Amino acid sequence: MIELKNLGFRYSGAERHALDGISLTIEDGAFLGLIGSSGAGKSTLCYALSGIVPHHYRGDFYGELLVEGMDSAEHRPEEIARVLGCVFQDIDGQMVASVVEDEILFGLENFGVPREEIEGRVAEALAAAGISELRCRAISDLSGGQKQKVAIAAITALRPKIIVLDEPTGELDPRSSRRVFETLKELNEQYGVTIVVVEQKIMLLCEFAKRLAVMEEGKLILEGEVREVLQSAGRMEAAGVNIPRVTTLARALREEGLYGGRLPLNLEEGEKMMREVGLSC
Ligand SMILES: Nc1ncnc2c1ncn2[C@@H]1O[C@H](COP(=O)(O)OP(=O)(O)O)[C@@H](O)[C@H]1O
Ligand SMILES: [Mg+2]
Repeated sequence: MIELKNLGFRYSGAERHALDGISLTIEDGAFLGLIGSSGAGKSTLCYALSGIVPHHYRGDFYGELLVEGMDSAEHRPEEIARVLGCVFQDIDGQMVASVVEDEILFGLENFGVPREEIEGRVAEALAAAGISELRCRAISDLSGGQKQKVAIAAITALRPKIIVLDEPTGELDPRSSRRVFETLKELNEQYGVTIVVVEQKIMLLCEFAKRLAVMEEGKLILEGEVREVLQSAGRMEAAGVNIPRVTTLARALREEGLYGGRLPLNLEEGEKMMREVGLSC
């Protein structure tokens, strides 16, 4: 479990807080989507979850963050990494090896995973990320999207209890983006891994996440089950967050008094709504 209690952080020299009074509990087994416009503080929140804020970044830190009971101000990021793996937005900065296989081996060896387990873990993580064929390739030759998959494989191989990903589909096409989320879903459902994912593609969050958190200027403005949060679509738009087109359509129909049903989250539900509206017209 992760608990944020009135958490705040201001980078030294910055005028405003990148995180400002955030209180949030992330339960075991959660699949939380984090969304917000550029500069809202999403990446800084990921830094805080992994402990590199406040340990590596200078600034004013207030409040409390507990990861599996560990106070992030007291425990080093290396300790937190044993339970919480993070795929940061800056993939290049995260890579330590020059060959794909070594990138995955590095973490496993660092964590002291027994030798006889290592081969299986490497093969499984590569397969889950859909990059088995990249195993012996030089990381410098890979595309941005391929590197993202390597970073995801390196983290999943460690089997942390919690995985935090900062815009993991940023450089991926729609099909690969879905594949990443399907992998996350499998980790979440089959292995009970808690997933926290920053993602701009709202439709992916609507389909895969169970809960949604919306940030604006360092503050957490909405948090709850996806459908519940989307009820505040107007507030989300005001915060510069895209909302699904079916939701916009449903709101327009509601305003016209043509639809009073449940807010649709995907195309299938949108179709159902249209049939209902069609019948009542
Ligand atoms: N290393 C840094 N030093 C100073 N300010 C930073 C640094 N990183 C981010 N910020 C500032 O913190 C705020 C939040 O940024 P960030 O967490 O990257 O937002 P997001 O990921 O939502 O785009 C922004 O105002 C940004 O300019
Ligand atoms: Mg960011």
